[in-house]
Amino acid sequence: MRRKLVAANWKMNGSRVANSAWLSAFAAPHAPLACDVLVCPPFPYLEQTGMVLRGSGAILGAQNLAAHEPGAWTGEVAGEMLVDLGCRWVIVGHSERRQHYAESNELAAIKARRAQDAGLLPIVCVGETLAQRDGGETVAVVGAQLAAVLAVMSAADLARAAIAYEPIWAIGTGRTATPQQAQEVHAALRAQLAKIDRSASERTRILYGGSVKPGNAVELFAQPDIDGGLIGGASLVAADFLAICAAAK
Ligand code: PGA
Repeated sequence: MRRKLVAANWKMNGSRVANSAWLSAFAAPHAPLACDVLVCPPFPYLEQTGMVLRGSGAILGAQNLAAHEPGAWTGEVAGEMLVDLGCRWVIVGHSERRQHYAESNELAAIKARRAQDAGLLPIVCVGETLAQRDGGETVAVVGAQLAAVLAVMSAADLARAAIAYEPIWAIGTGRTATPQQAQEVHAALRAQLAKIDRSASERTRILYGGSVKPGNAVELFAQPDIDGGLIGGASLVAADFLAICAAAK
């Protein structure tokens, strides 16, 4: 039985004042959660967020990391620094990185491996565009994204981390994949892992991301191969994020 993981991806949102309000609302008494909860703020707010989350049971993560070890890489943030700030997880290969920063399957894979070497657990994001879905290429596209990671990381190591299936056409659009559409891709990803290592495939958490809201989370998380979610827009409101976490049992 895989314990569900629900992660907040704040993207490039927040301020010290806004975060403080979010964190107070998050820390307010609520029913105990039956899933792992992860919060990924922008780099400048990792320390603030980490300090407040300490003792709350929620874990701290980052949204990106450098592909390199510490050194002469102006403007970059090394995995070791994220560990130093208390991060346990890091998102790699998010479609916004792939689309706007030309991150390839290979670079996403290098970052996943770098995260692991620095002591972090990567959430490896995969997902297709609408044109690729309409062209019937979804499984091939996400399969190639996953294969690139499995070329540099064992399935057993990936099983300790997580995969996030995030169809690009569902991110921030309000258009969620149906539970059946998502389940189909999750099952295909798990089958790809099973071909390499069946036991690892059964342990690997595969999250769904793309317009998850309190209103659709229960049905998505009820699918047999959906092991939680990566939440963007709805994670900016603490009460909505908590409602989504409560849907993960
Ligand atoms: P969304 O974003 O929930 O706003 O669609 C998800 C993500 O990009 O991780």
